[in-house]
Amino acid sequence: MQFMIDAPLDMHLHLREAEMLQLVAPLSAAHFAGAVVMPNLLSPVDSHQKLSAYRQAVVDAAGDDSFTPYMTLFFRPYTKTELETVRDHIIGIKLYPAGITTQSEAGVADFEAIGETVALMEELQIPLLVHGESNGFVMEREREFLAIYRWLAKSFPRLPIIMEHITTADTLDILDEFPNVAATVTLHHLMLTLDDVVGGLMQPHLFCKPIAKTPHDLQALQTAVFSGHPRILFGSDSAPHPTHAKECCGCAAGVFSAPVALPKLVELFAAEDRLDMLADFVTNNAQRFYGISPGPKTVHLQSKAWTVPQAYGTVRPFLAGEKIQWQVTAIEK
Ligand code: NCD
Ligand code: ZN
Ligand code: ZN
Repeated sequence: MQFMIDAPLDMHLHLREAEMLQLVAPLSAAHFAGAVVMPNLLSPVDSHQKLSAYRQAVVDAAGDDSFTPYMTLFFRPYTKTELETVRDHIIGIKLYPAGITTQSEAGVADFEAIGETVALMEELQIPLLVHGESNGFVMEREREFLAIYRWLAKSFPRLPIIMEHITTADTLDILDEFPNVAATVTLHHLMLTLDDVVGGLMQPHLFCKPIAKTPHDLQALQTAVFSGHPRILFGSDSAPHPTHAKECCGCAAGVFSAPVALPKLVELFAAEDRLDMLADFVTNNAQRFYGISPGPKTVHLQSKAWTVPQAYGTVRPFLAGEKIQWQVTAIEK
């Protein structure tokens, strides 16, 4: 069997810097027409200058002019002049609560103080991308953050807001309440519950933020994605960490899924007999919500099994050693 898709997009991607960037950028560029590049570098991307330098590094590392990096800025209080300067160079600004995930120490500690910048973003129509977790009990963090999503969506009704890597059934309700809100869903959160992470022997390579939740939450996410919700976008949250940072005491959070994401999604959608909905999830919904038109890049896949390698360089991928029933066979640019 064959399947082809025009301009697949990964709307949430970590590409890192230096050697890691060199290793992972080509892997995303090989399958995707574009990706939203997250700004949580060791020194966060929070100025026009850092943004330009990082964008150039990404373009150079990707080495593929059919891959568009959609850059993001790390949320901090910005002036109107700063926002006007970067506006045409970014797809949005990414907000991290302080200390909640990898390299987010410089994030927001006081949500009462963000209104001014968010109002400017609404005025300038700069989307707000959010890692939505409180600092409460790990299984309740996303639910506890929903009040902040509701406050943002209600107070800034013309601001496009993206709830990143959502994991609970309750979070989906917000999509029905507010037309200005969209959500990304990862591949791994479409497949895992907490049981897969810590129910048997502990699996550090499945440990990520937000942590995978309950069977009920998994089912709700699957239902929403496979039924083709128009404001749910694919974002892999592929987040590479070297094996030594995962297989140790104090395991880093993040699942590296970039090289398997597209073929595995095709496998999942095919198994549900929903291949006709995949283009909405991996490109059309994102194009509509963000007003972007990537490509041209057509990716051809075939139902031909392959075994995921144990490692790409220093990183162990999601589904390492497992068989995936589909593979990318050709790219037309
Ligand atoms: C991400 C990373 O490693 O940068 N980790 C993760 O577990 N998802 C950060 C993030 O997306 O929260
Ligand atoms: Zn995050
Ligand atoms: Zn992320």
